[in-house]
Amino acid sequence: MIVILTGAPGAGKGTQADLLAQREGYKKISTGDALRKQIKEGTEIGNKAKSIMAEGKLVPDDVLLGILQSELEAARGFPILLDGYPRNVAQAKALQDLVGKNGIRGAIHLEVDPGALIQRISGRRTCVNCGASYHATTNPPKREKVCDRCGSEVVQRPDDTEEKVKVRLGVYESETRPVLDFYRNLGLYHRVDGNGTTESVYKALAAQLRSLA
Ligand code: AP5
Ligand code: MG
Repeated sequence: MIVILTGAPGAGKGTQADLLAQREGYKKISTGDALRKQIKEGTEIGNKAKSIMAEGKLVPDDVLLGILQSELEAARGFPILLDGYPRNVAQAKALQDLVGKNGIRGAIHLEVDPGALIQRISGRRTCVNCGASYHATTNPPKREKVCDRCGSEVVQRPDDTEEKVKVRLGVYESETRPVLDFYRNLGLYHRVDGNGTTESVYKALAAQLRSLA
């Protein structure tokens, strides 16, 4: 079972996918986390992606398809939550080709008001090792700058500056929003209001997922 979790930068995709992985046994596949891992390891893909991500633009589709294939292979046999893929209609079509007509159970759009998105991203802090997501004021790690989950350093992402966030939101509007219509046309689109607290959004999302299972 593959479910797509889509939404603007800062909507809470990573936060919710982590909770669903911990509590409901899903495997989270985050293409953003996978790319950041490649950057950390200094691989060829990582070196290619680093400046593109820092600018807030999309990494080329062929690179992402390779990453997606290996992540799907590693998660085989588990229910999967896709966080950060597909980011444009070409990627959505590539995913359909990869998993077949019935491979996607649903695409859930986590919708958050623009003002809240900026507030969430500007306070976001991320673990350099496992990608766990925190917020400086609403959800800080228990020990300052130390990840609760793996003990590594918690930092601000280089693409979380105000200037880069504007670029990312622009890319979302022009390239990723059309993906919503792609899934609407396939009858797979669902919307969950992402404006509430983390726990209230979780309840709504978990209920939506149960209705798809
Ligand atoms: P990616 O890592 O996917 O970033 P994104 O889509 O911009 O999304 P974010 O991770 O910023 O937001 P999120 O929705 O996960 O929010 P979070 O849960 O952290 O991609 C980064 C880059 O990689 C792209 O720009 C691109 O360059 C490249 N890339 C990745 N995939 C690609 C692809 N398929 N094709 C091409 N390029 C690709 O929450 C945000 C903050 O809000 C946190 O601080 C959190 O604690 C807080 N928060 C969460 N929920 C709540 C709540 N309910 N109430 C209050 N605060 C909350
Ligand atoms: Mg994320």
